[in-house]
Amino acid sequence: MTEVTDVIPLPQHATSQDAYFDLGPDTGLVADDGAGRTERWLRATLGAATGLPLAPATGGGGDIRLSLDGGLATEGYRLDIAPTGVHLAGGGPAGLFWGAQTLRQLLGPDAFRRAPLPGRRWRLPAVRIQDAPRFGWRGLMLDVARHFMPKEGVLRYLDLMAAHKLNVLHFHLTDDQGWRVEIKRHPRLTEHGSWRSRTKFGHRASPLWEDKPHGGYYTQDDIREIVAYAAERHITVVPEIDVPGHSQAAIAAYPELGNTDVVDTTALAVWDTWGISPNVLAPTDNTLRFYEGVFEELLELFPSEFVHIGGDECPKDQWRRSATAQARIEEFALADEDGLQAWFIQHFDTWLAARGRRLIGWDEILEGGLAKGAAVSSWRGYAGGIAAARAGHDVVMCPEQQVYLDHRQHAGEDEPVPIGFVRTLEDVYRFEPVPAELTPKEAEHVIGTQANVWTEVMEDQQRVDYQTFPRLAAFAEVSWSALPAPDERDFDAFERRMAAHYRRLDALGVAYRPPGGPLPWQRRPGVLGRPIDGPPPNK
Ligand code: ACM
Repeated sequence: MTEVTDVIPLPQHATSQDAYFDLGPDTGLVADDGAGRTERWLRATLGAATGLPLAPATGGGGDIRLSLDGGLATEGYRLDIAPTGVHLAGGGPAGLFWGAQTLRQLLGPDAFRRAPLPGRRWRLPAVRIQDAPRFGWRGLMLDVARHFMPKEGVLRYLDLMAAHKLNVLHFHLTDDQGWRVEIKRHPRLTEHGSWRSRTKFGHRASPLWEDKPHGGYYTQDDIREIVAYAAERHITVVPEIDVPGHSQAAIAAYPELGNTDVVDTTALAVWDTWGISPNVLAPTDNTLRFYEGVFEELLELFPSEFVHIGGDECPKDQWRRSATAQARIEEFALADEDGLQAWFIQHFDTWLAARGRRLIGWDEILEGGLAKGAAVSSWRGYAGGIAAARAGHDVVMCPEQQVYLDHRQHAGEDEPVPIGFVRTLEDVYRFEPVPAELTPKEAEHVIGTQANVWTEVMEDQQRVDYQTFPRLAAFAEVSWSALPAPDERDFDAFERRMAAHYRRLDALGVAYRPPGGPLPWQRRPGVLGRPIDGPPPNK
């Protein structure tokens, strides 16, 4: 039986009694107005796992009642479980949904299966939980550009996010190695830009190639399905179209988007290896109009207030050599190529703001000045986030030194294709999204945090699972729970709660890294990675 203390992420307040509520064929699921989404989710999910009807009326066996309580925080909830019945109240529909996630955990790991095991009894421990999240943006970034994750996998990740009370999917849809979203007015983006003929296996220095085509993309209907599936789970999908760098796939599809006066862009293919491609967008009116068209279709598909425009790692060498780019610098009296990048980003900042949306980009976008409403994903450490918050911009903290889940989880030789620093489960658990340097007023601009999953060496779902879990569970607790300062966090207690959580992940079929290290089939002997030796962060 799961105890209340096993819940991940840790609730704010929980008290328990030595008593139970037993679920059976007569247990009703009764929802007040506004509770419909959680009612549907509970009936579908717990109904499948338990085989119980959870009928929408009082059945005489005690009920699970869902209601809204305006006295709670919007994403907060209160869960009362007594031997006579269950009452889940949410501050808003989202709070109710997060409360339902707690309820599922309290039923035990088998509640995470899709069909009941024979003879299983279902009981909930008598508890009273009052809970609310620390941050409003609790995100996961999925890079579906480097390796495509088919739609089914994305829907599965939305379910995994929901189970961890995460509420933003940052969807990295384009990069040098692939374009993953159908754009009707520019069909070659997916016809040509969504696949490559071969792929570097391992990191850049590896001599190995996977000599078969790799690719795939989401049709606009796929995207609508993903966005609706996410919304049903109170998850917002923030799309990213990365400009003006990380754009070789788009240039391979439409060579006129590149710097045609310095490189023969008609000879470019969708990139088949890793790193930062020198082939970046040309800063022309044609490029701006092309991407306005892309964003027009994107805004139809994604209701999210924020739209991510990338802005990271744009090498300036081609712009230095391009007469067209230099003429642009002169025309707008810009200082240099960095000014040109800022001009490019500002164009879309204004364009999105005029349509009621807000731009978000990687912290390089700060370098040229931004409109008031624009926000920053702080990835090159905390510095960009600190500068952004001080300048009055909202910030999502996702420093690569702490929460890049492509980085290896252990120093051992068996880690598959080891990338970056060693960042253990404990390191992630001790990640603090709000840097101490910020004043309380500045810190209000840290609207949240996200973990980033870059997939250069994650060629399939099992590899994504291995890198993402169990660390995403620690990250979820960092983003949701009111944990003490990093050094005071009780990692031993978290690890004890993880014992129950591993059984939930098992029931969900997640191919996490086991605490004892990779299983034989999770190893990749001999495939070169890019390990970085160095001290852990903040030490
Ligand atoms: C990034 O990792 N280039 C945002």
